Amino acid sequence: MRKILFLLISFTFIFSCVDKSEKEIFVDDLLSKMTLDEKIGQMNQYNGFWDATGPLPEGEWQKNRYRHLKNGLVGSMLNVTGVDKVRALQKIAVEETRLGIPLIFAFDVIHGYQTISPIPLAESASWDLEAIEKSARVAATEAAAAGLNWTFAPMVDISRDARWGRVMEGAGEDPFLGSLIAKARIKGFQGDDLSAVNTIAACAKHFASYGFAEAGRDYNTADTNEYTLFNTIMPPFKASVDAGVSTFMNSFNTVDEIPATGSSFLQRDILKGEWGFNGFVVSDWGSIGEMIPHGYAKDGAHAAEIAANAGSDMDMESSLYVSKLNELVTSGKVEISVIDDAVKRILGVKYDLGLFEDPYKYCNEERERAVVGSKENQDAVLDIAKKSIVLLKNQNQLLPLKKKNQTIALIGQLANDKNSSIGNWRGRGISNSAVSVFEGLNSYKGNKLIYTKGVDVYYGDTNFFTRVDINYDDRSEFNRAKSVAKSSDVVVMVLGEEGYQTGEGRSRTNLLLPGLQQELLEEIYKVNKNIVLVLVNGRPLNISWADENIPAIVEAWHLGSQAGNAIAQVLYGDYNPSGKLTMTFPRNVGQVPIYYNYKNTGRPSKSQKAVTTSAYSDVENSPVYPFGYGLSYTSFDYSDLTISSETINSEENIIASITLTNSGEYKGKEVVQLYIRDLFGSLSRPLKELKGFEMVELEPGESKIVNFTIDNSLLKYYTVNKKWESEPGDFNIYIGGNSDVEMFKKFKLMD
Ligand code: BGC
Repeated sequence: MRKILFLLISFTFIFSCVDKSEKEIFVDDLLSKMTLDEKIGQMNQYNGFWDATGPLPEGEWQKNRYRHLKNGLVGSMLNVTGVDKVRALQKIAVEETRLGIPLIFAFDVIHGYQTISPIPLAESASWDLEAIEKSARVAATEAAAAGLNWTFAPMVDISRDARWGRVMEGAGEDPFLGSLIAKARIKGFQGDDLSAVNTIAACAKHFASYGFAEAGRDYNTADTNEYTLFNTIMPPFKASVDAGVSTFMNSFNTVDEIPATGSSFLQRDILKGEWGFNGFVVSDWGSIGEMIPHGYAKDGAHAAEIAANAGSDMDMESSLYVSKLNELVTSGKVEISVIDDAVKRILGVKYDLGLFEDPYKYCNEERERAVVGSKENQDAVLDIAKKSIVLLKNQNQLLPLKKKNQTIALIGQLANDKNSSIGNWRGRGISNSAVSVFEGLNSYKGNKLIYTKGVDVYYGDTNFFTRVDINYDDRSEFNRAKSVAKSSDVVVMVLGEEGYQTGEGRSRTNLLLPGLQQELLEEIYKVNKNIVLVLVNGRPLNISWADENIPAIVEAWHLGSQAGNAIAQVLYGDYNPSGKLTMTFPRNVGQVPIYYNYKNTGRPSKSQKAVTTSAYSDVENSPVYPFGYGLSYTSFDYSDLTISSETINSEENIIASITLTNSGEYKGKEVVQLYIRDLFGSLSRPLKELKGFEMVELEPGESKIVNFTIDNSLLKYYTVNKKWESEPGDFNIYIGGNSDVEMFKKFKLMD
């Protein structure tokens, strides 16, 4: 602490002399006192390598890291959580190293720290930016109370391929919505003041193209052209910079044949150059070293050289900066200005967090006890969980369930599972702590609820590091489930994926319900057709059969700590579902990648029978459920689409209006969506692009005129001139309840 005070005093002195911000003066002054090794140390991030509150490290590898820590050769640690542990390590950095520079503690707080929100894909289906921001704030509040400073979130990768397990971490397939959600999440994590004790630094990841892994296989090559990169992949990253995100993470994949970690184009030219990002970039786990197997670096020293020169400021767990950078600077392969720039960025974020003012400001045991897992946080995640549910089908108004005198069969291992809904990337979410669907439904007492498993989806305990052990042959519980179903009024079947079946390293080539669940569904259907299928999963699944046969389908994702309560409230109609899909649901895996904003092709297909058109011979092109789709217990009618003008110039606006009427019997919310088609351009243009939306709540019989203002910024895209610009010509405006909307008006943008 003494050292920090000294630094603060010297900064005050210098401040009176030079015309710079307080932060710049402080950082420059500190930098001027650092040795080369201390600078490189700031660029080094280690995973927690021993129990900091237990005995000292023992193995040689651990001892070496411990030495690094004590010598100021570590700038950040990840996966160390809890005030006691954070404090113990911070104490070493602050009190035992020469300059006492505090560590920055990072963790993957993706959808909650201990109180778990829905997985991000689910939350995106709420289209409720306020609720999403609130959810991130709950996560930040708990994480900061547990000593943390920095989350590796939000993941803003656009994803069109449900085979890729990490679709669960993102906001789906659309860049416009993805950008708004990125901003909401960053605001939620960072707030307006990063130094407040309920905010943490955010990290936009994975820069870039990670969501486009070929064939949905994680870490695979991403082959995207420049226009897809700028029009589809980049917008949420750019929005993150605009929202003031503190850090970026690069990615494992190659972009234009160059590993993103070594891409100067991405990190220097675009991010830090064109976009003016002044935070720092952390590598992904080991991604600097992975440039060797990529065939892009010949050895560790070469990898460190490429990464540092390309603008990767912090090395997560390759240990290559700490071991190689000194020699690389001495030999002139890496300029000292590269190191200084990286270190200034890192110190700048530490400064913003208030760590120089008080390195222990996030270490308050009392706050940790009061905040982590609080009732208030549980209530907040219940709210976002309800909003994330999407009603996919509801024939004959089977839902909401009647509250009295019914016998309800509840079937499925996942119905009585307190673990799966916590999902992957669960932070310090406690295993088996979620409210199960059984518990949620059982809190409604008017009906008789009979639970039977039906089939095991998986066996044993599950975790982040091993594959889930799926049951492919034990049907021994089928008969009991059939007999319970047969004697019930309604069957609620909870099927889907175990929490660790999606997420990093969880790519699938098959999107059917895992194991024997589809078979069980078809067997139960033979004895009772009154089935409500509740899906508990982390990605779009192939549920074509269910869509054709099952009367009611509810997409309930991995909803977090309050999953069972949220699902029960929706099934019983205490919450009228309002979610809309943010990823297209395919008819089968062969259609993937599938997304709503596709290009027309030269041979667009209207019918599968037309052989030489862009169609499949065995399945139609359309998905089972399009982007933006979701039902309510009430119904909404759209009428009277009007536009204020049929021609505009680039300075003018058009107001597009539609009348929305609640034509059903329940009060309900509808996400009214605006799509635009640019009919002709210097590049082939998508058939539709989301350009606006509004959530409207109406009483039965009530109508509202919904207006959208369309200005030139909504017509721009990254054109053949490599600029964001609009191009004169014809446009269609569509307004409706999902991306399949057909009603449109035409207008012309004049020269
Ligand atoms: C993931 C990142 C994550 C990091 C640290 C990597 O494997 O790709 O998203 O933040 O690990 O846990």
